[in-house]
Parts: sequence; C-alpha cells; structure tokens
Amino acid sequence: PSVLILNGPNLNMLGVREPAIYGSETLDDIEALCLEHAERLNIAIDFRQSNLEGELVAWIQQARGEHDGIILNAAAYTHTSVAIMDALSVAELPVVEVHLTNVFRREAFRHHSYVSPVAKGVICGFGSHGYLLALDALARLIDADMN
Ligand code: DQA
Repeated sequence: PSVLILNGPNLNMLGVREPAIYGSETLDDIEALCLEHAERLNIAIDFRQSNLEGELVAWIQQARGEHDGIILNAAAYTHTSVAIMDALSVAELPVVEVHLTNVFRREAFRHHSYVSPVAKGVICGFGSHGYLLALDALARLIDADMN
C-alpha cells in the first residue's frame, strides 16, 4: 500500500516559523519520522509540500489510482480552499486531516475547515506525532479495505 502525505503553505518553514507555536522540528524531521513509521507498517509514502494551492490540487487529482490514502495538512488552505475540498471529493480515497497544533484552542478563523467534511477523521494538537497517528489510522482502513 501507498500513502500520499501532503503539506500546505509555510510548512516548509517549520523549525524557523513561530517555534513557540510549532516547535523546533523541521519538515525534513517529520518526513524522516513518517518514513520510519511507514516502514514498520509496510506502507510506502510520498511526502510532499507546496505553497501553491493549484499544485496541491493537481497532486490530489493524481493520487487517484496511484495511492491508497491521503494524509493532508493543508495548513492555511484548510480554512479557505473550496478547490482542495472539491479535489479531495474527486480522489475517492480515505483522507486523514492533520494539524500540528490544536486549532480549536487558537483563533476562531482556524476553527472552520474545508477539509473536515471530506475527511475520514481529523488529528490535531499532537505535533509531528499526529502524522504517525494518521499513518496508523490509514493502515487499518486500507487493511480492512483489502481483506
Ligand atoms: C496548521 C494550522 C493552520 O491553522 C495554520 O494555518 C498552519 C498550520 C497546523 O499544522 O497546526 O499553517 O495546519
């Protein structure tokens, strides 16, 4: 099985960006943790980041038929992008929405997500560990689907 892990705008700045909120880990650190965990689960991963909404949409479109699930931290586009929501509906793959921070204890504009209505589930507030929890969740869903 194969999982696409997508990261939205400004997540390339992790480690430098507001460390009091997002911590000191970089996106490369998170990718390494995901790779290690995915190997344990016998899952291949494709880990990507883009600051461009259209590029994220294109990658989600391409996932259909290529991957068995999507882990998505759409970052700020979570709260704005109907285009990403529509692309996820077209993909017809299980989606796990991830946020490093607990968006519900932050500003009100972060409480609404365009991703949640088309996601299987949402994990937020556990930092990089959320990505590993999402991999566990998808591994189980994919396994149930194949058997
Ligand atoms: C985020 C939360 C979003 O509100 C914010 O715009 C981000 C990161 C998170 O991982 O906590 O860029 O998705």
